[in-house]
Amino acid sequence: MKETINRLRSQGAVLIEAADTPALVEAARVSLLGRKGEITSLLRGLKDVDPQDRPALGADLNLLKTELAALLDERSSALAVGQGSSSGVELDLSLPGKPPVGTGTTHPLLSVMESVCDIFYGMGFTRSDGPEVELDYYNFTALNFPDDHPARDIQDTFYINDQVCLRTQTSPVQVRTMERTEPPLASIFPGRVYRNENADASHSSEFFQIEGLVVDKAISMADLKDTVDTFVRLFFGAAEPTRFRPHFFPFTEPSVEVDMQCVACRGAGCGICGQTGWLEIMGAGMVHPNVFKAVGYPDDAYTGFAFGMGIDRIAMLKYGIGDIRLLYENDLRFLNQFRGVL
Ligand code: DAH
Repeated sequence: MKETINRLRSQGAVLIEAADTPALVEAARVSLLGRKGEITSLLRGLKDVDPQDRPALGADLNLLKTELAALLDERSSALAVGQGSSSGVELDLSLPGKPPVGTGTTHPLLSVMESVCDIFYGMGFTRSDGPEVELDYYNFTALNFPDDHPARDIQDTFYINDQVCLRTQTSPVQVRTMERTEPPLASIFPGRVYRNENADASHSSEFFQIEGLVVDKAISMADLKDTVDTFVRLFFGAAEPTRFRPHFFPFTEPSVEVDMQCVACRGAGCGICGQTGWLEIMGAGMVHPNVFKAVGYPDDAYTGFAFGMGIDRIAMLKYGIGDIRLLYENDLRFLNQFRGVL
């Protein structure tokens, strides 16, 4: 048996040295140390050996097992780092790796929202967030909507109960912010809003808005105009002219809709702007005294402007997206076009 052990010791070493792939190392491990291997059958045969020789032979066999296992492990790790491969192909650890496939990116809506926020941070605005499930009081009453205003209709608003709805606009965050902040204040409120709409190319029952509010002692419409123009210049990358059109919102007086000259036709008139040369980008106005009253500001102490715009809308205008539903369907063929662009 002694000779067999010595033969196995040298044959085993040769076999392991010759194994130059992980599969061959594994095959050597099975043939040397496996249940059907020679060492296992020698260990089984120990019971027939002269009892005097048994302890020494047993110890030697176990030592052989340990030695071969160590050689096998060494060989496996040498192959794993590409060292000592007899095939001559070595792993170059300095090569760049394969880029991972299928990683996610920021959704275009979120990217646009963040870049709009960044523009306003640059002008000194802070940011607050409010709840999407909102009290009717903040969404309507405190914003000077009369009880019978059509926007309060269940045809337009998703109600949870009599007093609670899904907010239909980001304007309620104005009220929440003013309630806890003494002017001067300049803040933006981005977020998701909900309306009871049937989906089509320009309507969705959920979309995103960003609201802005500035309140101080002598804020005028000229401040609003300058803020809007600065935003348009920085977001659309060109000094497109803007114009104010008189409008009505319950929470501002006077109220306007803000148009910018059509980015596609530069005012000449085209399909995108309905031949008018102008694109509506936001609603705005001077904060109504009733809103100041609702938040507890002293009479006539402050003036302020507010604006609200659809993030979806300006994203669609900037990137020429013709259907708002594309922004909510999560079709990777659509989304992947924005990879690395925004
Ligand atoms: N909340 C309005 C809407 O959803 C948008 C808006 C208009 C916001 C005028 C304002 C504003 O802050 O002053 O249609």
